[in-house]
Amino acid sequence: MSEEKRSIHGTWSSRWTFILAATGSAVGLGNIWKFPYMAGDNGGGAFVLVYLACICIIGLPIMLGEIMIGRRGRSSPANSMKSLAAEANTTSAWTLLGATGALAGLLILSFYSVAAGWAMSYIFNGFQNITAESSSSSFNNLLSSPLSLIFWHSLFIAITVFIVARGILKGLEKWINTLMPMLFLIILLLCIYAMQTGAFFEGLRYLFMPDFSKINPQVMLEALGQAFFTLSLGMGAIMAYGAYMPANQNIGKTAVSVAALDTGVALLAGIAIFPIVFANGLAPSEGPGLVFVTLPIAFSAMPFGILFGTLFFVLLSIAALSSSISLIEPGVAWLIESLKIKRITATILLGFAAWFIGLFSALSFNLLSEFTILGKNFFDATDFLTNQIMLPLGGIFIAIFVGWVMKKEHVLDELGFQENFIFKAWYFSVRFVAPTLVGLVFLYFFL
Ligand code: PHE
Repeated sequence: MSEEKRSIHGTWSSRWTFILAATGSAVGLGNIWKFPYMAGDNGGGAFVLVYLACICIIGLPIMLGEIMIGRRGRSSPANSMKSLAAEANTTSAWTLLGATGALAGLLILSFYSVAAGWAMSYIFNGFQNITAESSSSSFNNLLSSPLSLIFWHSLFIAITVFIVARGILKGLEKWINTLMPMLFLIILLLCIYAMQTGAFFEGLRYLFMPDFSKINPQVMLEALGQAFFTLSLGMGAIMAYGAYMPANQNIGKTAVSVAALDTGVALLAGIAIFPIVFANGLAPSEGPGLVFVTLPIAFSAMPFGILFGTLFFVLLSIAALSSSISLIEPGVAWLIESLKIKRITATILLGFAAWFIGLFSALSFNLLSEFTILGKNFFDATDFLTNQIMLPLGGIFIAIFVGWVMKKEHVLDELGFQENFIFKAWYFSVRFVAPTLVGLVFLYFFL
């Protein structure tokens, strides 16, 4: 194992920190905002089933691979791939995979920040006397105001840049340690509220009873993309964090914990939201506004709703921040290593790029709503390009790198595994199953 080698950016202070940081990256808007509305757009249970299958069969094996590459390479994703490719005597063109990953991170951050801005603005919602109609119209008002969207988007990017510029190893630990469990508790509280809405079982049925006739190429691709997005895979975020992971930590167990926590949060968010949707006569296919329309109704109806509602959106914003910093970190670490520039310069540079591209996403709900790419506004188009194309494609190549490029003895050495059944199953998955399945979903969708 790579005992002595450490990343120039530092190492997490304990084993627990890597799990916290990786979970912080994984749990974010993807679980609470995106998962419920994608499930709602794609008919519920069928989507959830394919999504869960993608997490277990494709996501988990690739997550192990990413952590391993990061920890063995001990640098930014692009340079880790480069040095591991050299170790395996192959072409340094693999650096490109890390580079496109860093680009995907920037593009994701550009629209992620706009949605995180919605969450921040909801901190000040007030949560009183909210009905289904008033809730929908206040969300639409927010979308139609270019200035508010740009303000919140800018603030979110500024906070992200501030944290990353100081170095993510400092401070992050403390925050995630207490705030993540709090977010979890409020989601549980919302689930309890959902139980007494009268539509709890309808919600559960919608989420968990698959209607197989609803499975089509689009549902498959969206579920696959969501699996990558929610686990922060395919662009190097988890790889970048792996580089800061202590050498004696078990990668397999860690990956399973992160994936399980992440999936748990998404499912609980769904369990809380759909009963509220049905009880209030809203449509599950409300789209990106789903949580922003439904949850305020719930908070305004429950005791201490102002307190819980405000706290919920504070915590959601923080969860979004702990994800956004991992979106920019692969690019920042790479710039620092390759251009030998200061962390602060690298962060400001990339933060500015994400902010600028994000302006188009913010305006795509109002001034630029007529401007579409393949029928999607800029926000949706960036989301589609990154989550459904770049991340799964990055995932295929990461799997191929681990399964075919790296030497098996290095892989075994880094994982600290024997050649037992679990190793064989995992290795088979990264070599054959994951790349083939992702490839098939692509073919199915595009042909
Ligand atoms: N996983 C994060 C979320 O669910 C988003 C993310 C994607 C973060 C890719 C890093 C990399 O909100």
